[in-house]
Amino acid sequence: MQDSKYTPLERAQVLIEALPYIRRFHGKTVVIKYGGSAMLSDELKKAVMNDVILMKLVGMNPILVHGGGPEINHFLKRLDIKSEFVNGLRVTDEPTMEVVEMVLVGKVNKEIVAQINRLGGHAVGLCGKDGQMILARKQYEWTKDADGRETMVDIGSVGEVEKINTGIIESIMETNGYIPVIAPIGAGVNGESYNINADLVAGEIAGALGAEKLILLTDVEGIFYDLQDKSSILSVIKTSEIDQLMQDGIIAGGMIPKVKCCIRALEAGVQGTHIIDGRLPHSILLELFTDKGIGTMVEKD
Ligand code: ARG
Repeated sequence: MQDSKYTPLERAQVLIEALPYIRRFHGKTVVIKYGGSAMLSDELKKAVMNDVILMKLVGMNPILVHGGGPEINHFLKRLDIKSEFVNGLRVTDEPTMEVVEMVLVGKVNKEIVAQINRLGGHAVGLCGKDGQMILARKQYEWTKDADGRETMVDIGSVGEVEKINTGIIESIMETNGYIPVIAPIGAGVNGESYNINADLVAGEIAGALGAEKLILLTDVEGIFYDLQDKSSILSVIKTSEIDQLMQDGIIAGGMIPKVKCCIRALEAGVQGTHIIDGRLPHSILLELFTDKGIGTMVEKD
Protein backbone atom coordinates (compact mmCIF):
# COMPACT_ATOMS: atom_id res chain seq x y z
CA MET A 1 0.00 0.00 0.00
CA GLN A 2 2.90 2.34 0.82
CA ASP A 3 4.15 2.60 -2.76
CA SER A 4 0.64 2.65 -4.20
CA LYS A 5 0.31 4.73 -7.35
CA TYR A 6 -2.73 6.37 -5.84
CA THR A 7 -2.51 9.39 -3.62
CA PRO A 8 -3.87 9.16 -0.09
CA LEU A 9 -6.79 11.36 -1.17
CA GLU A 10 -7.67 9.07 -4.07
CA ARG A 11 -7.60 6.10 -1.77
CA ALA A 12 -9.87 7.85 0.71
CA GLN A 13 -12.24 8.72 -2.11
CA VAL A 14 -12.77 5.04 -2.86
CA LEU A 15 -14.07 4.55 0.65
CA ILE A 16 -16.14 7.73 0.58
CA GLU A 17 -17.78 6.65 -2.67
CA ALA A 18 -18.69 3.38 -0.96
CA LEU A 19 -20.24 5.07 2.06
CA PRO A 20 -23.77 5.75 0.75
CA TYR A 21 -24.01 2.19 -0.53
CA ILE A 22 -22.80 0.73 2.74
CA ARG A 23 -25.52 2.76 4.43
CA ARG A 24 -28.22 1.92 1.88
CA PHE A 25 -27.55 -1.82 1.83
CA HIS A 26 -27.16 -2.27 5.57
CA GLY A 27 -29.36 -5.14 6.70
CA LYS A 28 -30.30 -5.97 3.10
CA THR A 29 -30.12 -9.40 1.50
CA VAL A 30 -28.04 -9.94 -1.64
CA VAL A 31 -28.15 -13.26 -3.48
CA ILE A 32 -25.06 -14.04 -5.56
CA LYS A 33 -24.86 -16.74 -8.18
CA TYR A 34 -21.31 -17.97 -8.18
CA GLY A 35 -20.06 -20.26 -10.93
CA GLY A 36 -18.31 -20.60 -14.22
CA SER A 37 -15.09 -18.70 -14.66
CA ALA A 38 -15.14 -17.18 -11.19
CA MET A 39 -14.53 -20.70 -9.91
CA LEU A 40 -11.53 -21.46 -12.06
CA SER A 41 -8.55 -20.04 -10.23
CA ASP A 42 -7.74 -19.99 -6.54
CA GLU A 43 -7.08 -16.28 -6.73
CA LEU A 44 -10.56 -15.57 -8.11
CA LYS A 45 -12.22 -17.90 -5.64
CA LYS A 46 -10.50 -16.11 -2.80
CA ALA A 47 -11.53 -12.71 -4.17
CA VAL A 48 -15.21 -13.76 -4.30
CA MET A 49 -15.07 -15.15 -0.76
CA ASN A 50 -13.40 -12.02 0.56
CA ASP A 51 -16.01 -9.81 -1.13
CA VAL A 52 -18.76 -11.83 0.51
CA ILE A 53 -17.07 -11.64 3.90
CA LEU A 54 -16.67 -7.88 3.55
CA MET A 55 -20.35 -7.53 2.64
CA LYS A 56 -21.28 -9.44 5.77
CA LEU A 57 -18.99 -7.32 7.94
CA VAL A 58 -20.56 -4.08 6.71
CA GLY A 59 -23.99 -5.37 7.66
CA MET A 60 -25.37 -6.93 4.49
CA ASN A 61 -26.76 -10.45 4.28
CA PRO A 62 -25.02 -12.16 1.37
CA ILE A 63 -26.19 -15.58 0.18
CA LEU A 64 -24.11 -17.63 -2.27
CA VAL A 65 -25.70 -20.01 -4.74
CA HIS A 66 -23.05 -21.96 -6.61
CA GLY A 67 -22.76 -24.07 -9.72
CA GLY A 68 -20.54 -27.07 -10.24
CA GLY A 69 -17.74 -25.46 -12.15
CA PRO A 70 -15.59 -27.89 -14.04
CA GLU A 71 -15.79 -30.44 -11.23
CA ILE A 72 -18.88 -32.32 -12.43
CA ASN A 73 -17.39 -32.96 -15.87
CA HIS A 74 -14.15 -33.96 -14.27
CA PHE A 75 -15.78 -36.59 -12.03
CA LEU A 76 -18.08 -37.94 -14.74
CA LYS A 77 -14.99 -38.47 -16.83
CA ARG A 78 -13.11 -40.12 -14.01
CA LEU A 79 -16.00 -42.54 -13.54
CA ASP A 80 -16.30 -42.98 -17.29
CA ILE A 81 -19.93 -41.82 -17.44
CA LYS A 82 -20.84 -40.35 -20.81
CA SER A 83 -23.37 -37.54 -21.21
CA GLU A 84 -25.79 -36.55 -23.90
CA PHE A 85 -27.02 -33.00 -24.27
CA VAL A 86 -30.44 -31.73 -25.35
CA ASN A 87 -30.77 -28.00 -25.99
CA GLY A 88 -27.52 -27.53 -24.11
CA LEU A 89 -28.82 -29.39 -21.07
CA ARG A 90 -27.15 -32.53 -19.82
CA VAL A 91 -29.43 -35.56 -19.92
CA THR A 92 -29.20 -36.54 -16.29
CA ASP A 93 -29.82 -40.25 -15.82
CA GLU A 94 -29.52 -41.91 -12.42
CA PRO A 95 -25.77 -42.56 -12.33
CA THR A 96 -25.14 -39.02 -13.60
CA MET A 97 -27.43 -37.52 -10.98
CA GLU A 98 -25.60 -39.41 -8.26
CA VAL A 99 -22.33 -37.86 -9.35
CA VAL A 100 -23.86 -34.38 -9.77
CA GLU A 101 -25.27 -34.46 -6.26
CA MET A 102 -22.12 -35.88 -4.67
CA VAL A 103 -19.91 -33.33 -6.37
CA LEU A 104 -22.14 -30.28 -5.83
CA VAL A 105 -23.20 -30.99 -2.27
CA GLY A 106 -20.32 -33.07 -0.97
CA LYS A 107 -17.41 -31.42 -2.64
CA VAL A 108 -17.95 -28.00 -4.21
CA ASN A 109 -20.32 -26.77 -1.48
CA LYS A 110 -18.05 -27.86 1.36
CA GLU A 111 -14.97 -26.41 -0.30
CA ILE A 112 -16.64 -23.00 -0.52
CA VAL A 113 -17.81 -23.20 3.07
CA ALA A 114 -14.37 -24.24 4.27
CA GLN A 115 -12.69 -21.46 2.29
CA ILE A 116 -14.99 -18.76 3.70
CA ASN A 117 -14.43 -20.06 7.21
CA ARG A 118 -10.70 -20.16 6.70
CA LEU A 119 -10.72 -16.54 5.52
CA GLY A 120 -12.48 -15.51 8.72
CA GLY A 121 -16.13 -15.63 7.70
CA HIS A 122 -18.84 -17.90 9.05
CA ALA A 123 -20.54 -20.00 6.42
CA VAL A 124 -23.00 -22.88 6.47
CA GLY A 125 -23.60 -25.10 3.45
CA LEU A 126 -27.04 -26.24 2.38
CA CYS A 127 -28.71 -27.90 -0.54
CA GLY A 128 -32.36 -27.74 -1.50
CA LYS A 129 -33.13 -30.79 0.60
CA ASP A 130 -32.10 -29.13 3.84
CA GLY A 131 -35.18 -27.81 5.56
CA GLN A 132 -37.14 -28.62 2.37
CA MET A 133 -35.69 -25.40 0.98
CA ILE A 134 -36.03 -26.06 -2.76
CA LEU A 135 -39.07 -28.03 -3.88
CA ALA A 136 -38.54 -29.09 -7.46
CA ARG A 137 -40.40 -30.71 -10.29
CA LYS A 138 -39.17 -32.49 -13.35
CA GLN A 139 -38.35 -30.34 -16.34
CA TYR A 140 -39.07 -31.54 -19.85
CA GLU A 141 -37.45 -30.20 -23.00
CA TRP A 142 -38.90 -29.83 -26.46
CA THR A 143 -36.92 -30.48 -29.60
CA LYS A 144 -37.80 -30.34 -33.27
CA ASP A 145 -37.40 -33.54 -35.28
CA ALA A 146 -36.36 -33.69 -38.95
CA ASP A 147 -39.90 -32.83 -40.11
CA GLY A 148 -40.04 -29.83 -37.82
CA ARG A 149 -42.42 -31.54 -35.41
CA GLU A 150 -42.00 -30.68 -31.75
CA THR A 151 -41.32 -33.63 -29.50
CA MET A 152 -41.00 -33.75 -25.78
CA VAL A 153 -37.78 -35.25 -24.49
CA ASP A 154 -37.14 -36.74 -21.09
CA ILE A 155 -33.86 -35.31 -19.83
CA GLY A 156 -33.87 -37.24 -16.57
CA SER A 157 -33.33 -35.52 -13.25
CA VAL A 158 -33.13 -31.96 -14.51
CA GLY A 159 -35.57 -29.93 -12.45
CA GLU A 160 -37.17 -26.55 -12.14
CA VAL A 161 -38.15 -24.73 -8.98
CA GLU A 162 -41.64 -25.42 -7.73
CA LYS A 163 -41.36 -23.54 -4.46
CA ILE A 164 -38.73 -22.06 -2.17
CA ASN A 165 -39.15 -22.45 1.57
CA THR A 166 -37.11 -19.62 3.03
CA GLY A 167 -37.31 -20.77 6.68
CA ILE A 168 -33.95 -22.52 6.88
CA ILE A 169 -32.13 -19.68 5.11
CA GLU A 170 -33.63 -17.04 7.35
CA SER A 171 -32.89 -18.96 10.50
CA ILE A 172 -29.22 -19.51 9.81
CA MET A 173 -28.79 -16.00 8.45
CA GLU A 174 -30.72 -13.98 10.98
CA THR A 175 -30.49 -15.98 14.14
CA ASN A 176 -26.88 -16.94 13.89
CA GLY A 177 -25.37 -14.58 11.37
CA TYR A 178 -24.05 -17.25 9.06
CA ILE A 179 -23.47 -16.85 5.33
CA PRO A 180 -25.63 -19.47 3.58
CA VAL A 181 -23.87 -21.32 0.75
CA ILE A 182 -26.41 -23.16 -1.37
CA ALA A 183 -26.00 -26.04 -3.83
CA PRO A 184 -28.71 -25.99 -6.50
CA ILE A 185 -30.13 -29.46 -5.84
CA GLY A 186 -33.88 -29.59 -5.39
CA ALA A 187 -36.09 -32.22 -3.80
CA GLY A 188 -39.15 -33.64 -5.52
CA VAL A 189 -42.35 -34.59 -3.69
CA ASN A 190 -41.04 -38.10 -3.18
CA GLY A 191 -37.66 -36.93 -1.94
CA GLU A 192 -35.97 -37.56 -5.28
CA SER A 193 -33.13 -35.24 -6.31
CA TYR A 194 -33.19 -32.75 -9.14
CA ASN A 195 -30.32 -30.85 -10.66
CA ILE A 196 -31.42 -27.25 -11.22
CA ASN A 197 -29.68 -24.44 -13.06
CA ALA A 198 -27.93 -22.30 -10.46
CA ASP A 199 -29.00 -18.97 -12.04
CA LEU A 200 -32.63 -20.05 -11.70
CA VAL A 201 -32.19 -21.11 -8.11
CA ALA A 202 -30.47 -17.84 -7.22
CA GLY A 203 -33.25 -15.84 -8.89
CA GLU A 204 -36.02 -17.78 -7.18
CA ILE A 205 -34.37 -17.53 -3.77
CA ALA A 206 -33.84 -13.78 -4.21
CA GLY A 207 -37.51 -13.42 -5.17
CA ALA A 208 -38.78 -15.56 -2.31
CA LEU A 209 -36.73 -13.62 0.23
CA GLY A 210 -37.65 -10.24 -1.24
CA ALA A 211 -33.92 -9.62 -1.54
CA GLU A 212 -32.47 -6.22 -2.33
CA LYS A 213 -30.29 -7.62 -5.09
CA LEU A 214 -29.56 -10.55 -7.30
CA ILE A 215 -26.04 -10.68 -8.70
CA LEU A 216 -25.16 -13.12 -11.48
CA LEU A 217 -21.43 -13.68 -11.89
CA THR A 218 -20.89 -14.59 -15.52
CA ASP A 219 -18.17 -15.10 -18.11
CA VAL A 220 -18.70 -11.75 -19.83
CA GLU A 221 -18.36 -8.11 -18.79
CA GLY A 222 -22.05 -7.45 -19.20
CA ILE A 223 -24.41 -6.74 -22.08
CA PHE A 224 -22.90 -4.85 -25.01
CA TYR A 225 -24.78 -2.73 -27.47
CA ASP A 226 -22.17 -3.67 -30.05
CA LEU A 227 -20.18 -6.79 -29.21
CA GLN A 228 -17.18 -5.50 -31.21
CA ASP A 229 -17.06 -2.29 -29.23
CA LYS A 230 -15.96 -2.79 -25.64
CA SER A 231 -16.97 0.74 -24.74
CA SER A 232 -20.60 0.06 -25.62
CA ILE A 233 -21.49 -1.82 -22.45
CA LEU A 234 -25.07 -1.16 -21.39
CA SER A 235 -24.59 -0.07 -17.81
CA VAL A 236 -28.28 0.06 -16.91
CA ILE A 237 -31.21 -1.62 -18.67
CA LYS A 238 -34.83 -1.00 -17.77
CA THR A 239 -37.28 -3.89 -18.01
CA SER A 240 -39.34 -1.98 -20.59
CA GLU A 241 -36.34 -1.94 -22.96
CA ILE A 242 -35.72 -5.67 -22.88
CA ASP A 243 -38.14 -6.86 -25.59
CA GLN A 244 -36.64 -4.46 -28.09
CA LEU A 245 -33.06 -5.42 -27.13
CA MET A 246 -33.96 -9.08 -27.70
CA GLN A 247 -35.57 -8.38 -31.06
CA ASP A 248 -32.48 -6.47 -32.11
CA GLY A 249 -30.29 -9.40 -31.09
CA ILE A 250 -28.42 -7.32 -28.50
CA ILE A 251 -29.60 -9.63 -25.76
CA ALA A 252 -28.90 -12.99 -27.38
CA GLY A 253 -27.68 -16.54 -26.80
CA GLY A 254 -26.76 -17.45 -23.26
CA MET A 255 -27.67 -13.95 -22.09
CA ILE A 256 -31.39 -14.54 -22.72
CA PRO A 257 -32.00 -17.01 -19.86
CA LYS A 258 -29.92 -14.79 -17.56
CA VAL A 259 -31.94 -11.70 -18.36
CA LYS A 260 -35.19 -13.67 -18.00
CA CYS A 261 -34.03 -14.80 -14.62
CA CYS A 262 -33.43 -11.13 -13.67
CA ILE A 263 -36.91 -10.16 -14.88
CA ARG A 264 -38.52 -12.89 -12.81
CA ALA A 265 -36.63 -11.79 -9.72
CA LEU A 266 -37.61 -8.14 -10.29
CA GLU A 267 -41.25 -9.15 -10.70
CA ALA A 268 -41.00 -11.03 -7.42
CA GLY A 269 -39.89 -7.85 -5.69
CA VAL A 270 -36.10 -7.80 -5.92
CA GLN A 271 -34.92 -4.17 -6.20
CA GLY A 272 -31.98 -4.54 -8.55
CA THR A 273 -30.33 -7.29 -10.55
CA HIS A 274 -26.79 -7.25 -11.87
CA ILE A 275 -25.00 -9.25 -14.54
CA ILE A 276 -21.30 -8.85 -13.90
CA ASP A 277 -17.97 -10.35 -14.89
CA GLY A 278 -16.94 -13.20 -12.62
CA ARG A 279 -13.49 -13.25 -14.23
CA LEU A 280 -12.61 -9.86 -12.82
CA PRO A 281 -11.31 -10.03 -9.25
CA HIS A 282 -13.57 -8.17 -6.79
CA SER A 283 -16.24 -7.49 -9.39
CA ILE A 284 -18.90 -7.75 -6.66
CA LEU A 285 -17.37 -4.91 -4.65
CA LEU A 286 -16.83 -2.81 -7.76
CA GLU A 287 -20.48 -3.18 -8.71
CA LEU A 288 -21.98 -2.68 -5.27
CA PHE A 289 -19.82 0.05 -3.84
CA THR A 290 -19.23 2.39 -6.77
CA ASP A 291 -21.64 4.76 -8.51
CA LYS A 292 -21.18 3.40 -12.02
CA GLY A 293 -20.58 -0.25 -11.19
CA ILE A 294 -18.75 -2.43 -13.73
CA GLY A 295 -21.41 -4.63 -15.30
CA THR A 296 -24.99 -4.39 -16.49
CA MET A 297 -27.70 -3.57 -14.01
CA VAL A 298 -31.25 -4.61 -14.92
CA GLU A 299 -33.92 -2.72 -13.05
CA LYS A 300 -37.62 -1.91 -13.16
CA ASP A 301 -38.78 1.26 -14.88
N1 ARG B 1 -23.47 0.56 -6.64
C1 ARG B 1 -24.79 0.84 -7.04
C2 ARG B 1 -25.72 -0.32 -6.76
O1 ARG B 1 -25.28 -1.41 -6.53
C3 ARG B 1 -24.86 1.22 -8.47
C4 ARG B 1 -24.43 0.16 -9.43
C5 ARG B 1 -24.55 0.61 -10.84
N2 ARG B 1 -24.19 -0.43 -11.71
C6 ARG B 1 -24.30 -0.37 -13.04
N3 ARG B 1 -23.95 -1.42 -13.75
N4 ARG B 1 -24.76 0.72 -13.61
O2 ARG B 1 -26.90 -0.15 -6.75
